[in-house]
Amino acid sequence: MNNLTDSQSWQALRSHYCEMEAVRMRDLFEQDEARYQKFSLQVGDLLLDYSKNRIVDKTLKLLCQLAEGQGLSDQIDQLFNGQLINQSERRAALHTALRDRGSEPIWVQGRDIRVDVLSNFARMQTFVNDVREARYCGFSGESITDVVNLGIGGSDLGPGMAYMALQSYADNIKCHYYSFCDEHYIKERLAELDPRRTIVIVVSKSFTTQETLTMARYAKHWLMEAGSDLALNKQFIAVTANIERALAFGVAKANVFPLWDWVGGRFSLWSSVGLSLALAIGMEHFSELLAGAEAMDVHFRQSDFNRNMPVILALLNIWYNNFFEATTKAIIPYSRQLQFFPAYLQQLHMESQGKNVAQNGMKLTYTTGPILWGGTGSNSQHSFHQLLMQGSHLVPVDFILPLKVYPNSDFINSQLIANCFAQSRTLMNGHLLKEAIADLKSQGLDDEQAKHIAPHKVIPGNCPSNVLLLSRLNPYNLGLLLALYEHKVFVQSVIWNINAFDQWGVEQGKRLASQLVADLQNCKLSQNYDHSTSQLMQHVLGSVENEESRVDE
Ligand code: F6P
Repeated sequence: MNNLTDSQSWQALRSHYCEMEAVRMRDLFEQDEARYQKFSLQVGDLLLDYSKNRIVDKTLKLLCQLAEGQGLSDQIDQLFNGQLINQSERRAALHTALRDRGSEPIWVQGRDIRVDVLSNFARMQTFVNDVREARYCGFSGESITDVVNLGIGGSDLGPGMAYMALQSYADNIKCHYYSFCDEHYIKERLAELDPRRTIVIVVSKSFTTQETLTMARYAKHWLMEAGSDLALNKQFIAVTANIERALAFGVAKANVFPLWDWVGGRFSLWSSVGLSLALAIGMEHFSELLAGAEAMDVHFRQSDFNRNMPVILALLNIWYNNFFEATTKAIIPYSRQLQFFPAYLQQLHMESQGKNVAQNGMKLTYTTGPILWGGTGSNSQHSFHQLLMQGSHLVPVDFILPLKVYPNSDFINSQLIANCFAQSRTLMNGHLLKEAIADLKSQGLDDEQAKHIAPHKVIPGNCPSNVLLLSRLNPYNLGLLLALYEHKVFVQSVIWNINAFDQWGVEQGKRLASQLVADLQNCKLSQNYDHSTSQLMQHVLGSVENEESRVDE
């Protein structure tokens, strides 16, 4: 028996969906003037307006009952208390401990990890302050001006996104995030920097990710060429859980900042993975980022489900994904500073929720994590909004709008705000046939012309969207926003009974790639691959051979 879809609350939601499928949001607003008050929520400076969703009181009630039935309260306790909820790897998932400013111990397999968190934070703080105040300089004695972060996935997306979001808080240190496995590219980029004044941080929890190590090998050579071992000792840093491999790679022991196995890559910004960001914006602002995330943690732990922002976002996703069969979700920040936010959320959501077996290994009979995608507004209006407006897919949207984005300015971008609100309203309201005809006739078309063109101008509407409004994009509020989505992903994983914290699906491809790399380097196939792979490899090897013979002529 599948306890989720056989549950009473799931069955009740299934019936409720039949009641709601044809209900139009514009009618719900007409029937209830207090709809916005009822379906909006504020945590600190973060306002969530979820009134433009295809829900009524009963919907939220049934969804909350579903969450209760799946044991969400107990699972939240287990998350924060360091239980081994990452069952397939027998690990805790304690990214929350990294921002927990409490004092009670947090036990993980007999060890109080709060001690490790605090000592690492203190070490980070000393290093960041020394570099920023030029007490810690490069091998030639000059102060540091640039930080290169080499990493991929959670070792790149989190810090890179946060740096773009908070760049206005950065002062005299510039960060560069390189994740592309391309020696030529990294060589060109490093050539633009001064090796005497650049710190290279190799961020890799496993210290086995080939893309990262390829870049790291070149960066190590670049530093060595400029300042030999002294340059390495001063400016070649590793952030990793695999200290032995980092030392073997040539990173000085004093330059290794530890990660722990109870922090997943996509949840690791709060750790030393955020070192580049901290160097750029300073530990005070980095601490504000942590404090904002902790504030969302407190809200998440203490709020009733029907007034709990991460729970509500998660339940709405389940409502559309599993009942409306809307299998994709769009994230559209109306902010240049948040342009990397959709890519960051893609890994957070899809690497956590791209699962098809339950925690106990049983094959699931229902769909899980939606395909998450997005882009930056208003640019996205000139790219994919046409599909949102008149396409054949129902795509729920999260609009994210920071009202102020510059630390020392109260500038408000009216055009961005207006565009964001107009898109959310149009998705909900649509543009009815009679409205389209009236529009066309007001432009001077006769009745027949208007009726001919009008169908092409109809916007069905009734497409749900959330609007997340930030009063200001600052470190604290960014922390609130990131933790909101971390917990939303966790809630969805609890309801679907999947493990949000492992990612076995990406291992197989890595293994095959390393074999193919060896075959390409040896110019021969080591095994019978499938016919497609073999032919492609032969084609590449053939083209390399031809190239070499041309060069030899
Ligand atoms: O994509 C798989 C993955 O393991 C991610 O979970 C992780 O963020 C990324 O690769 C990089 O891994 P590492 O930090 O070990 O280099």
